[in-house]
Amino acid sequence: MCPGMGEPSTMRGKVVVITGGNAGIGKETAVGLAALGATVIFTSRNPDRGADALREIRERGANEDVHCLPLDLASTASIKAFAAELLGRFDRLDVLINNAGLILSARSETAEGLEMTFAVNHLGHFMLTALLLDRLKASAPARIINVSSDAHRAAVKGLDFDDLQANRSYGSFRAYAQSKLANVLFTRELARRLEGSGVAVNALHPGLVRSRFAGDGDVRGLMGAVFGMISWAFGLSPAEGAETSIWLASAPELSGRSGGYFVQRRERAVSRAAADPAAARRLWEVSVQLTGVGG
Ligand SMILES: NC(=O)c1ccc[n+]([C@@H]2O[C@H](COP(=O)([O-])OP(=O)(O)OC[C@H]3O[C@@H](n4cnc5c(N)ncnc54)[C@H](OP(=O)(O)O)[C@@H]3O)[C@@H](O)[C@H]2O)c1
Repeated sequence: MCPGMGEPSTMRGKVVVITGGNAGIGKETAVGLAALGATVIFTSRNPDRGADALREIRERGANEDVHCLPLDLASTASIKAFAAELLGRFDRLDVLINNAGLILSARSETAEGLEMTFAVNHLGHFMLTALLLDRLKASAPARIINVSSDAHRAAVKGLDFDDLQANRSYGSFRAYAQSKLANVLFTRELARRLEGSGVAVNALHPGLVRSRFAGDGDVRGLMGAVFGMISWAFGLSPAEGAETSIWLASAPELSGRSGGYFVQRRERAVSRAAADPAAARRLWEVSVQLTGVGG
């Protein structure tokens, strides 16, 4: 546990959900919050990876109250099943960390015909958050944390609402930057909508992290090799990359702070495109249409 992260009992009695907790930053976030005494539910698409991570998080976090549930953010059926199981098994939800994410060399689609990067990184988390929002409100003060990226700054012209599904043109980094811009716009619009509810929502950039991100063939060719080399040479460890997520989930001094974007535990300005309230409202409306929830 890094310095200043709190006492081992800081999160006792709190229920935390982390998407994509079987690897990388999400797994280290789970270890950190388990070590602070939280009940941690993390998600995994793959049962074997989930079981391995469950053993490791319980052991390293010295906390048996850690649980792994299946979730594929590319599938609305999976998101609904996860939300139903979670709401049935746990009577409160104090922190939701929307952490899972990917970048893909080639354009692909979900079974429902949505471009995969936008679907997993934004729409899936939009839907999950909407399905869990009443339980977060009932557990207030509660927190939502969206793991975005400074890559959002690369979407300088803003969200391409005319081609959100990247039908006309697809580039892996372009699609990723658009999805991470969507994370920030979603955070800001949700914060506006949640004013006075006792539920705070913030976004963060974890830094460049030596995780499995862009690995496993997700990004092929030269770009994948260069990203791999740069992150292994200069990147933070996954535990270092998890620090801001853990801090946003647990720090008492953050009570009530909402709508912010944090890097290394400091609030930072977002890009001009990410600060556009009209784009944030429009993204919300499109997301409601595409997911059928949140209206
Ligand atoms: N690494 C970096 O340098 C960096 C920088 C800025 C922001 N970020 C952000 O940090 C977050 C975590 O990334 P990471 O570096 O820890 O990457 P990672 O090691 O690749 O972990 C990503 C996690 O997301 C899960 N995931 C991927 N697709 C999913 C889906 N369809 N449904 C549910 N879960 C899915 C993965 O599960 P599987 O094991 O099943 O694939 C894995 O648990 C992402 O949102 C990423 O955009 C990372």
